[in-house]
Amino acid sequence: MSSKLSLSEAKKRIADLREDLRRHEYLYYVLNQPEIEDAEFDRRLRALQELEAWFPELITPDSPSQRVGGQPTSEFPSVRHPVPMLSLSNVYNEDEFREFDRRVSEGLGDQPFSYVCELKFDGVAVNLRFENGQFVQGTSRGDGQTGDDVTANLRTIRSLPLKLEADQPAKVVYVRGEVHMDRAGFAAMNREREEQGEPLFANPRNSTGGALKLLDPAAVARRPLKLTCYGLWFDGIAESGWKHSQSLKWLESAKLPIYTDWRLVDNIDAVFELWQEWEKLRPELPFDIDGVVIKVDDIGQQVRLGATAKSPRWATAYKFKAEAGKTRLLDITLQVGRTGNVTPVAELEPVQLAGTTVKRATLHNEDEIKRLDLHIGDFVTIEKGGDIIPKVIGVDLEMRPAGARFFKMPENCPVCDEQLTRPEGESAWRCVNNACPAQVQKNIEHFAFRGAMDIEGLGEKVVALLVDADLIRDYGDIYTLTLERLLPLERMAEKSAQNLLDGIEKSKEQPLERLIFALGIRHVGIGAARILAREFGSIDALILASVDDLIAIHDIGKTMAESIVDFFQNEKNRSIVEKLHSAGVRFEAEQSADRPAPLAGKIFVLTGTLEAFSREQAGDRIRALGGSVTSSVSKNTSFVVAGPGAGSKLKKAQELSVTVLDEAAFLKIITEIE
Ligand code: IVH
Repeated sequence: MSSKLSLSEAKKRIADLREDLRRHEYLYYVLNQPEIEDAEFDRRLRALQELEAWFPELITPDSPSQRVGGQPTSEFPSVRHPVPMLSLSNVYNEDEFREFDRRVSEGLGDQPFSYVCELKFDGVAVNLRFENGQFVQGTSRGDGQTGDDVTANLRTIRSLPLKLEADQPAKVVYVRGEVHMDRAGFAAMNREREEQGEPLFANPRNSTGGALKLLDPAAVARRPLKLTCYGLWFDGIAESGWKHSQSLKWLESAKLPIYTDWRLVDNIDAVFELWQEWEKLRPELPFDIDGVVIKVDDIGQQVRLGATAKSPRWATAYKFKAEAGKTRLLDITLQVGRTGNVTPVAELEPVQLAGTTVKRATLHNEDEIKRLDLHIGDFVTIEKGGDIIPKVIGVDLEMRPAGARFFKMPENCPVCDEQLTRPEGESAWRCVNNACPAQVQKNIEHFAFRGAMDIEGLGEKVVALLVDADLIRDYGDIYTLTLERLLPLERMAEKSAQNLLDGIEKSKEQPLERLIFALGIRHVGIGAARILAREFGSIDALILASVDDLIAIHDIGKTMAESIVDFFQNEKNRSIVEKLHSAGVRFEAEQSADRPAPLAGKIFVLTGTLEAFSREQAGDRIRALGGSVTSSVSKNTSFVVAGPGAGSKLKKAQELSVTVLDEAAFLKIITEIE
């Protein structure tokens, strides 16, 4: 279809699609009010990508298709900030805030002034540079004077518009904001990491910092990063009488993501009231905050007040109390995860923290217990932020009761009694028995879980019921369930049994990537599963892959490659996979236009003699990657691959300015994307 469009038709269509996609990005990521399904958004984005592949000359950096671009880098260039990125002074109580307010009044010679109060987002500060409304550079704070250029990573944050629509107050404007994560996004990411046996992040702030430092933008795009903007700066802003409240309104009109519930107040009692109100709001917000930021509204006044070496005199952070509490450690139990990792858990005397009752906290691993010198019966300090798993951060040694017991890691699995092992250099003990009921149960849950085969009705409780009744011993058995076998179970009415069977039947058609993820191969998350599905196209092909085949794929490392090969070499796993096959679970990728084809829309002409392979073979490789091969050169040709002896076709390509590749360059391209 696209090939028949004229250039001007394509231009129009591309412009319309971009505008439409920008609008939906805004509705979804900034306003949180999506109007279309994710799948529909993806469909429109693919339509744009296809058109752009046909008309690469129309690609612009602000196109919604260009969020994840470029190759991984080896380091980030340093950038000097145009205005130092200062941090805020802190106050912790009313008296300290009164003192701050007194210094402001004094500094302004008792002129009247107002404050803007905002939430203090707990993330990582960034500075965004826009030129003529285009996002051109984003930097981290670094030491306040210079920071890292993390533009490519920031571009992946979908709430950040790559192009601003509002009138620009100056040619170059700087927007300051905080990159952070919602607690739910953070928790989901950690859940996935846990399933893959990867180390967990301690809190959203650390993992945000870690994400921005990743060298591969494609990996950053998979982290649930959010942006909230709270500052604007351009040359002459103070002289032109701007107010901070005006900046916030401008940011909003430019469709940048801001937190809209900021307040303008003109007396400090209002600040105290707000501080109390927002502290109560804290557990209900979807993200972490750690205080209220109070800023003098008039930017001319801000300039008059100036800054110390570290922080401005016109703003301060009025911090909330840390969400920590003390309670007694009643016991330490062990939890066996899906991949066999054994994690110690603190069983606590219930304590109220940040509006919820905490009864359990993670202890991470044995070394952590030793480091804290924890004894059962101790009084411990627990910290918690929102719905992050609470953790034990300290022990009150002076309050240790006489009978406090030292905790010793058992030698055997608490569930199946298998001897535990601790691989060299790792912090976790593992139960290596694949048949361990704890692992079996969790593996089946994982297989059926929403992000995997998505089998409705097959949650934790039902899995336990089926495993206990010995109806299923692994996820391969799920497909042998029948109404006759389910009905005798207690708590299994005919209707729910039928619904479960329908859900199971439906799951047979899940896309290949979900199936690969559902297998529960250590280290293989949904992102990797997607890549494997695309590269191998079927389970049968994946089974045949060697470690070398796997690591040849971009994004698949050695640990993952070995884990995949180990998985399929295991007899038991092979027989489970075979059960899935005989049950009719789909083992092949859908042959649809949805399959990413890196050379989609690219037209090649091959001429002259090629050495590494015949022209036919070269053509096959191109077609396998979604490209096409024609025999005559035209202005629509994307590349001419010319070997020795090339004649008229090469000449034509040069006349039409079509890119000419020699065999080496061609090989480089296809091996890089394959
Ligand atoms: S204004 C010159 N406003 O807190 C002052 N900062 O310790 C510019 N932060 O580095 C900062 N929420 O990362 C400002 N509403 C807010 C904020 C905020 C969070 C962070 C920011 C800054 C740190 C200060």
